[in-house]
Amino acid sequence: MNAALSEPAVEMSAVSQSFGEMAVLEDFSLAVNRGEFVSLVGPSGCGKSTILNLIAGFAHPTHGTVRAGGRPVTHPGPDRGVCFQQAALFPWLSVVDNVTFGPRARHELNPQRRARAVRMLEEFGLGEFLRHRPAQLSGGMQQRAAIARVLVNEPDVLLMDEPFGALDAQTRLRMQRFLTEVQGEFGCTIVFITHDIDEALLMSDRVLVLSRRPAHVVDEIVVDAPRPRTPDYLLTEDFRRHKARAFTALESLSAERSFGDRGDEHA
Ligand SMILES: Nc1ncnc2c1ncn2[C@@H]1O[C@H](COP(=O)(O)OP(=O)(O)OP(=O)(O)O)[C@@H](O)[C@H]1O
Ligand SMILES: [Mg+2]
Repeated sequence: MNAALSEPAVEMSAVSQSFGEMAVLEDFSLAVNRGEFVSLVGPSGCGKSTILNLIAGFAHPTHGTVRAGGRPVTHPGPDRGVCFQQAALFPWLSVVDNVTFGPRARHELNPQRRARAVRMLEEFGLGEFLRHRPAQLSGGMQQRAAIARVLVNEPDVLLMDEPFGALDAQTRLRMQRFLTEVQGEFGCTIVFITHDIDEALLMSDRVLVLSRRPAHVVDEIVVDAPRPRTPDYLLTEDFRRHKARAFTALESLSAERSFGDRGDEHA
């Protein structure tokens, strides 16, 4: 295989990240293969968003290296699309202008790209809303527009920080299905943060359970049931086994805390 293709899509090696006195990551490593869907779960404040921000290039590690597509990450780039819990669309732009914003800002918007963006929005069920403003869309529709805005740049990697966290349960299920289909069609690598174990197990090839700060991987759950998985997967023995394991790993973290070691393992 071509060397560039055999490289992981995302690689963090011995990364440390501190904010002042606080070590959020210490000697943290992660490799995500091309086309893989990896979820990160872990206690609030453990460093999940920090990990995503480093891969996105929004921040630089104190120590260690972060690579994407075999190249060191030095700044944000269209090869790494980021989606947050809030869709973060420009409220004053129409849906189609939001989605074509990236190529336009890079002076790369041509009629073909624009037609592609419109086709994508039609496929995403937003064909009737091209000229609407984000505020006129439901939460799920806004999130689909935000995903389209990122995909129009043809990213290799999608970085998603609790993207469905603000959606109601029904919409969330539909969006999970939608994202699985999107990945099937676009073939991108996905790093996905969620607090919802069911969501992580339904969608991922691998679920990484992170410790409290400084985050390290305490368990890795490989979910090899074929994808796309329908919600029926949540009723299987395979799912129950994985979920129990994820809970055990997370419980062991809260047990650590209740024994009062205030998170300073070296004290
Ligand atoms: N730019 C920053 N400056 C200072 N401290 C920061 C910064 N970014 C994150 N932190 C701190 O680093 C720690 C980890 O934050 P992070 O947002 O990565 O956690 P998280 O795992 O995403 O949490 P949550 O599940 O609540 O979103 C927190 O204590 C946070 O306050
Ligand atoms: Mg976070």
